[in-house]
This record gives sequence, C-alpha cells and structure tokens, in this order.
Amino acid sequence: MSGADPLTVRGATVWPGCLDAASQAALMRDVQAIWAAAPPRHPVTRWGRPLSVGMSAAGALGWTSDRRGYRYAPAQDDGRPWPPIPPALLALWARLLPQARPPDSCLVNLYRGAARMGLHQDRDEADLTQPVLSVSLGDEALFRLGGVARGGRTESLWLRSGDVLALSGDARLIHHGIDRIRPGSSDLVPGGGRVNLTLRVAGA
Ligand code: SIN
Ligand code: MN
Repeated sequence: MSGADPLTVRGATVWPGCLDAASQAALMRDVQAIWAAAPPRHPVTRWGRPLSVGMSAAGALGWTSDRRGYRYAPAQDDGRPWPPIPPALLALWARLLPQARPPDSCLVNLYRGAARMGLHQDRDEADLTQPVLSVSLGDEALFRLGGVARGGRTESLWLRSGDVLALSGDARLIHHGIDRIRPGSSDLVPGGGRVNLTLRVAGA
C-alpha cells in the first residue's frame, strides 16, 4: 500500500495512488480469476439497450440488469454462483472503512474504447447507511460527481490506476458517472482498458 493523503471531492473521499504497482498487478490477477468463473457481459437495460461497460461480479450478490430491470442477483444467468470477493479487496475495505459491515458484493466493470457510464446514484442496496468503495485499475477515467439531487453543478476528476474512492455518509447517494476513459494510458489490463471494482453492502 502507498499513496498520498486522502482528499475530498464533493463529499467523496479519494485516496490517490492507494495501491502500489505490485498490489495493482496482484489485483488484476484476481480480476482475471473472477472473469474465468464469471465472464464479463454487456447487460441490457429495461429498454433492451446493451450497456457499453462489460460487467461481472463477485460475492454473495451480483448487480445485473435485463429486460425486467436491474437488481442484485444471488447467481449468474446460468445459475452458477458468483466467485468470491478477493481477500485483498476485503482487507482494503476493512482498512479504509473500519466502521462498515463487510461487503457482500463486488461489481467488476470493464471499460474499453468508448465505454462510459451515465450519471446515476447507487441506491439498489438494502442499507444505504453503508458506504461504497471503488477501486480503479488500468486506463485513466474521467469521473464526474454531482449532488444528491438530480441536476445542478458537477465536478470531474481523472481517476488513475491504483486510486480508491469512497461514497459514504452525506455523499453516499451523490450522482456519479464515467464520461470517458483515456485508452492506452495504462498497460495493466490485458487487452487494454480500465477495470473498476465497486464494493458494496447490498443485502440487508
Ligand atoms: C459505477 O458507478 O458503477 C462505476 C464507477 C466507476 O467505474 O468508477
Ligand atoms: Mn455507481
């Protein structure tokens, strides 16, 4: 572990360079093991439009979306359970968020090319008092943060490989999204792109 002191952007806590190069490489191997058990796919929205982000998950519950809408599911579409959350991520959560319950869900997002994620709130979890922890690996990404209410002013920052960010307390429900990545800015992800790992307490 390494990195600068945490900073606060619109209530979100950012730990720049929290994971050193060796920790990032180890985590990338953990991600590849997750993908071997639960390959990334592009879920469709309720309106049938595939998301540009490739998604997989680990933990007891995985976030998923289809024509019925989005939700947390206890298994993959084919009935197989999601693979376990890597111990290094559980340890990172415990170190940075010692007051929180352990996470039961890890979304594994893969951004390649023009993939992006529109402004949204994370609010499908049963207990919204519990924080969200997000780990960036690979290419840089332009992360946009707004307020709890829709609309209004937003602020953007570039997230780099090894950066970690938490949404907690008053910032737990702020709007956020990824405008774009900078393809080729890192060679950590095999085949290129950016991986984002989002740890959450999804169940009651
Ligand atoms: C998300 O909000 O689900 C992902 C955010 C990110 O990719 O950094
Ligand atoms: Mn989110």
